[in-house]
Amino acid sequence: MSDLLTVEHLSVRFPIRSGAVWSKVVGHVTAVDDVSFTIAHGETLGLVGESGSGKTSLGQAVLRGHEPAAGRVTLDIDGRRIAITSMGKTELREARRHMQMIFQDPYASLNPRMTVRDILSEPLIAGAARGERLSRTQIDARVVDIATKCGLSRDQLNRFPHAFSGGQRQRIAIARALVLKPALVVCDEPISSLDVSIQAQVLNLLAELQETLGLTYLFIAHDLAAVAYVCDRVAVMYLGQIVELGTTRQVYYSPKHPYTEALMSAVPEPDPDSTRRPILLAGERPDPAHPPTGCRFNTRCLHATETCRAVMPPLRPLGDGHFAACHYAETLELRGALALGAAATATA
Ligand SMILES: Nc1ncnc2c1ncn2[C@@H]1O[C@H](COP(=O)(O)OP(=O)(O)O)[C@@H](O)[C@H]1O
Ligand SMILES: [Mg+2]
Repeated sequence: MSDLLTVEHLSVRFPIRSGAVWSKVVGHVTAVDDVSFTIAHGETLGLVGESGSGKTSLGQAVLRGHEPAAGRVTLDIDGRRIAITSMGKTELREARRHMQMIFQDPYASLNPRMTVRDILSEPLIAGAARGERLSRTQIDARVVDIATKCGLSRDQLNRFPHAFSGGQRQRIAIARALVLKPALVVCDEPISSLDVSIQAQVLNLLAELQETLGLTYLFIAHDLAAVAYVCDRVAVMYLGQIVELGTTRQVYYSPKHPYTEALMSAVPEPDPDSTRRPILLAGERPDPAHPPTGCRFNTRCLHATETCRAVMPPLRPLGDGHFAACHYAETLELRGALALGAAATATA
């Protein structure tokens, strides 16, 4: 399978300001630090890691929602390579149709004064303004088609977002993201704000849409069970860097980075008699504006040595498409998750 998305050495930096008004820039946070990965056509890559590790910043930078400080993002659309990071504003507006984002809070991303029909038509009308001629009838047909695929009825098209439940609103937001037939969809915690009872429905919808529309996903989530359920491969982020990358099976069952092991130890177990306890990481999460020298994880790692405090380990291949950024990846004996049986096996 060829790659749809190629991300090379991508970095995102935010200024830190002092004071509220007339604020001066007093430093920078490197939210994403020299990150590289690819996603194949039709693949789902999961992105996990604790809050503040840079997942949203990375997702946004891939779509140039944030201007990256460095690095390259390339899309391969029908054999044509589109250099996202080097295009001008006009070109970028045109290229955006190929990549869309689904957010955690669907309500915030939907205009409360527009009907669902108008919300879904808007991107198509904007497209028409850029020269892609679609008649009113064609626009309507596209809107009804995508709404139906997302489980919304014709009746519902005439209502406003407030008339819907959280799960239905997320369906509207998904339909809106897909109406331009993008190739890549960045899903940023798409089920975190939903009731547990409807999370599975929305996950299944995303999986179905991927099949029918041939979508490729970057799937950001902190729910490790959901990630195991939908993702082919998983990348683990810590303080702005990818510290492990591999198939879902590799990352969940044979983690090669101590941070991944700690994450996996927190997955609940099916066996109520199990005596296994989550690994509690030592120390506080470091300030992202002042990350530790050497390995970024060394201040919380049970296995850290002098080398780890001095030398930053690169993300390096361990064979079979499994990568980890740990000096001791080959020798540490780390434990994986136990509880994900069926889900992780199905996607491995
Ligand atoms: N707009 C912003 N301005 C300044 N700092 C930001 C901004 N967005 C994110 N950050 C910082 O970048 C780091 C990564 O944040 P984020 O990408 O939101 O992480 P995650 O999605 O994994 O929780 C954090 O330290 C956060 O405080
Ligand atoms: Mg986030």
